[in-house]
Amino acid sequence: MTTDAILQNLKNDLNEERYEHSIGVAEMARELAEKFGCDPEKAYVAGLLHDCAKCMDFELSRKIALENTPDLDDTEKDNRKTIHAPVSAYVAWEKYGVTDKEILSAIRLHTIGKCGMSVFEKIIFIADKVEHRTREVEFRSQIEQYLVEKDNPLDKAMLKSFEMTIESLVKRQLPICFVTIGVYNEMLTKCK
Ligand SMILES: [Fe+2]
Ligand SMILES: [Fe+2]
Repeated sequence: MTTDAILQNLKNDLNEERYEHSIGVAEMARELAEKFGCDPEKAYVAGLLHDCAKCMDFELSRKIALENTPDLDDTEKDNRKTIHAPVSAYVAWEKYGVTDKEILSAIRLHTIGKCGMSVFEKIIFIADKVEHRTREVEFRSQIEQYLVEKDNPLDKAMLKSFEMTIESLVKRQLPICFVTIGVYNEMLTKCK
C-alpha cells in the first residue's frame, strides 16, 4: 500500500487526535532511524501504523488478539490500553499488507515492550513517547533528553520511559506486569 493510501485508511479508522499522533510517531521514528542506523522509510511506515487498531471496539480487539497472537501476555488481553498493540500488528498485516517482520514486531511490542528488543523496536517504542505533534513537552522532554547522550542513548531513554510508567502505576495503585519489570531491570543493568 502506498503512503497516501495508508494515510487515507488511517483517517477513516482513527479519530483526529490519534491520526495526528500517528503522523507524529512516523516523523519521529524516521528521524531516530536516521540517527541510529535503521531504515528510515520502514520506521516511517511502522510509526504510521503502530496504533492502526487503537480505535477498534474492545471486544473485537480481544477476539482478534486471542485468535492471532501466540505470545499474548495475560496482562495484555484484558487491558484496553495494551490490547491495541498486538491487534494493530495484525491489522497492519491483514488490512495494510505489511509483511516485513521487523515492522510487525515493532508495532506488536510498542506498548509493554519485551526483554532483548532490537534497535528498530526501541525506536518505534520511543518515538511513540516523544513525537512532537501531540505529546506534551513536559512529558516528552523527560525521555527525549537522553537521546542526545553519547553513551547508550536509546537504552537510557527506554529506562526513563519505564521508570515513568512504573512510577505512574505505583501512584495509581495499579498492578505492574512482569514484562515491564523485566525490561526495566534489563535497561537498568545496561545503563549502569
Ligand atoms: Fe499505542
Ligand atoms: Fe501511540
